[in-house]
Amino acid sequence: MHTSILSLPTSADYHFIVIGNPIAHSKSPELHQSFAKQTGLNIHYARQLCPNDFDSFVAVAASFFNGGGTGLNITVPFKEMAFELCQTLSQTNQGNLSEYALVAGAVNTLAIKDGKLYGDNTDGRGLVADLRSKGVDLDSKNVVILGAGGATRGAILPLLNANVKSLHIANRTVEKAENLAKMFDDNRITFSNLTDLPNNVDVIINATSIGLSGEKLPFNDDLTTDFAYDMMYGKPSAFLDFFKAKNANISDGLGMLVNQGALSFELWTGEKVNLTDFTF
Ligand code: ATR
Repeated sequence: MHTSILSLPTSADYHFIVIGNPIAHSKSPELHQSFAKQTGLNIHYARQLCPNDFDSFVAVAASFFNGGGTGLNITVPFKEMAFELCQTLSQTNQGNLSEYALVAGAVNTLAIKDGKLYGDNTDGRGLVADLRSKGVDLDSKNVVILGAGGATRGAILPLLNANVKSLHIANRTVEKAENLAKMFDDNRITFSNLTDLPNNVDVIINATSIGLSGEKLPFNDDLTTDFAYDMMYGKPSAFLDFFKAKNANISDGLGMLVNQGALSFELWTGEKVNLTDFTF
């Protein structure tokens, strides 16, 4: 087998990279190798550090696909740049975006589809799938999501599609929550600051880094929920601790990572991953 730094390893049938800055911490290579093992595919998946600017991102993505790459995951801070790239290319019929990516304004998965650069966003669907796998049926539930950044924006359409009864966006800077609510124009959506949350919350989702700061959480002491979900994983969560102390069921975001990855893998390879009792 011939391998050089300028060509992809030729023994694999599928070549993937995840682009980020920083990137060394990414679990995606191990995650996708587990999917490959389960589905019997021979893949190569590498971490790709990239300078934090649009031109560098485009250069790295282009050289990857021009070199025969199959699929690309995008993490912080490039998701909006990947969206911009697909949107620009779509103006000359060379790019396309999924409905989820369009609404999220961000792309976490790139592929070549029908000869065009196709951008999808599997993060929000990954969240909903993980909640489902944990026995949380969102149908007719009152859901609160904390934060009004990209993570929240990407989750809103999948949550609405899961037929929630209400979706309350709460954010430290209330104007950002208001802007998001207006963008979606759905009468199930309400918004507030972090203190004035609704009374009957079935599911509360943290899409901020709020629990990391060490600051006291701004919630009222009487706030309760059936299920608290933190999109973060691998770090102590004051947010989850707060609700655990109130006997709520809780989950960190590792399963969201797994599920968004499985959706990317399926898009790239056509293979569905079985996530029952999945570990990696
Ligand atoms: P992402 O794309 O991951 O959502 P982001 O766009 O930087 O990241 O958004 C971070 C979110 O975390 C924001 O909603 C931010 O609140 P503001 O809009 O008021 O800045 C929220 N956030 C971060 N640190 C916080 C803290 N210590 N307390 C409350 N909210 C915090």
